[in-house]
Amino acid sequence: MPNVAVINGSLRQASINGKLARGLAKLAAPRLTLSLLRIDDLPLFNQDMESDLPAAVGRVKKEITAADAVLFITPEHNRSMSAAMKNVIDWGTRPYGTSVWLDKPGATIGTSQGAVGTAAAQSHLRSVLASLGVALMGRPEAYIVFKETSMDEAGNVTDEALGKVLTSYVDALAKWLARLGVHHA
Ligand code: FNR
Repeated sequence: MPNVAVINGSLRQASINGKLARGLAKLAAPRLTLSLLRIDDLPLFNQDMESDLPAAVGRVKKEITAADAVLFITPEHNRSMSAAMKNVIDWGTRPYGTSVWLDKPGATIGTSQGAVGTAAAQSHLRSVLASLGVALMGRPEAYIVFKETSMDEAGNVTDEALGKVLTSYVDALAKWLARLGVHHA
């Protein structure tokens, strides 16, 4: 089954996007294996570090290269993706000529308590990813307005309507990866 690396653009312990990641991992199994990447030890991008790449950067780039696809789960910070999400994307493109993003199958999703449920953040994120050559799943879009009562800590979805939305999202992702011919790297 395809191995999907998950990037949560929120670094905080109690992240609602982390909950969403755990929920999606449960709903996706056994069709897809979702594995969360660690990104909180990446330094803030600095081109001076490119000549002696930090170990954490090398690790994350290797993990992305090894994954069959990447699921970008973004919080919305001031109507855009989080700085942590942009940071991992930027590191993934450097040094020049070693981008991990070109032709990598990818999809975006995110949750916030705001009425637009990360639509603005995902719009920016998708335009950046498209420019880097990520093979993005176009549909379905998934803007999840977070409600405390919809998911428990472990990521079990307790709201039936949300469960249906997330199940059809992972179904679509599995089908789309199959259409791309992605089985397992
Ligand atoms: C936010 N939040 C937010 N929410 C939203 O819907 N639209 C927005 O533009 C913003 N802007 C924003 C900026 C900053 C700096 C912070 C810290 C927060 C609220 C945000 O959605 C909320 O904190 C979520 O809980 C963030 O997701 P995680 O970190 O819980 O995964």
